[in-house]
Amino acid sequence: MTTKPLTFPPGFLWGTASASHQVEGNNSNNQWWAFEQQPGAIWHGDKSGLACDWWANAEADFDRMAGLGLNAHRLSLEWSRIEPEPGRFDHAAIDRYREMLDALRQRGMTPLVTLHHFTEPLWFTRMGGWENGASVAFFRRYVDFATRALGDLCDFWTTINEPLVLIAQGWFLGNWPPRKQNFPLAMRVMRHLLFAHAEAYHAIHAHQPGAKVGYAKHVRLTQGLRPSSRLDRYAAGLRRWLFEHIWVAATDDGWLRPPLSLTRRDPRLAKTIDFFGLNYYTRDHLSFTLNPAFLFGKPEYLPNAEHSDSGRDGPFSQYDPEGLYQVCQEVRRFRPDLPIYITENGLPDRDDEQRPRWLVAHLAALQRAIASGCDVRGYFHWTLADNFEWAEGWGLRFGLFEMDPATQVRTARPSAGVYAAIAQANGIPDSLLNQYLAQESL
Ligand code: BGC
Repeated sequence: MTTKPLTFPPGFLWGTASASHQVEGNNSNNQWWAFEQQPGAIWHGDKSGLACDWWANAEADFDRMAGLGLNAHRLSLEWSRIEPEPGRFDHAAIDRYREMLDALRQRGMTPLVTLHHFTEPLWFTRMGGWENGASVAFFRRYVDFATRALGDLCDFWTTINEPLVLIAQGWFLGNWPPRKQNFPLAMRVMRHLLFAHAEAYHAIHAHQPGAKVGYAKHVRLTQGLRPSSRLDRYAAGLRRWLFEHIWVAATDDGWLRPPLSLTRRDPRLAKTIDFFGLNYYTRDHLSFTLNPAFLFGKPEYLPNAEHSDSGRDGPFSQYDPEGLYQVCQEVRRFRPDLPIYITENGLPDRDDEQRPRWLVAHLAALQRAIASGCDVRGYFHWTLADNFEWAEGWGLRFGLFEMDPATQVRTARPSAGVYAAIAQANGIPDSLLNQYLAQESL
């Protein structure tokens, strides 16, 4: 095994990522809180409740981040707090976010702020949410207000987190609110989200010309199960087209590709990212099926793959650090000029048996991508402390710190020390490579 030091570029951002509803607590004015009250919606009937109590005391976790030697954090704003009723903005909520951003900066951390991370105000849902064409203007109004109010403390924004996860879960699979399974409606929602992103991009740049604005795009390296099967490959290609390509390409050249539209181009969509925010968890394998409910690709799980707590057939199943290298190369081929930030990467592993090695292996793959010429400028691990994991409630634990929602007590897992050592060295110390990757070829 090589002992060449695996270093990262000067100024590289080392952070963690979080989302308002998953950490703040008592976000009772959004559609997820309402969803949590429905029987059977969340594993074991869990509720977000106080979450990680950030609305009262995010600062204690900011101290933990600083203690690890991190220099960045990605968090999100809760639209339902900032605009509790249509057109009425809550200045006390803005003041709290100002305190948080200030607290991060005082601890030497660069904030990356997400404007929409899966939650929205109840009034917005009642007005039809993203199915309503007016959603685009609503979102722009909120973004304009929030980014002006916080613009002296932050110039680094992600508009929408994982738009295609939101669409797939809410309008295709029907697992998340509004729990629909309606493909044409899903495409309508995608059009509105694309324009919402673009309008947010222009709104921010109108008052903050130097801002860096992007989205956080979930990228899964979907591929056919049987390399020799052309049908498996078509199924994988269709999945990538729908969930990745048409979104990303529209924000580059402005074309709405089928099935969004056959002939429409809107210049306002074009060139609306200043960086590529990449959320990477794992790779998927599909086998062809005639069932359109699966979009002709049935998810398959490799019998021998190492899997995390989400199980062999779970959404974060497979250990695949090489995939992180490959998605960085894909982004580089797509737009060599765009800086890349890994806006999320992590795994559910309550006992922390796998996380230290997964972390080292993914960061070694990332370093290799950088060494080969990918312009990756930061990495945000999902997440600092266990938090409310959407439909899985408190069932999946992604934290570098274990967090007991009943007592709010945090306990550092071994992987917190591993991540701290890497962040502080701005590289992967040989000792960690030897300890965790001696058996793997780098
Ligand atoms: C989401 C997070 C989520 C994480 C782990 C991402 O898809 O942005 O909100 O907690 O994955 O599931």
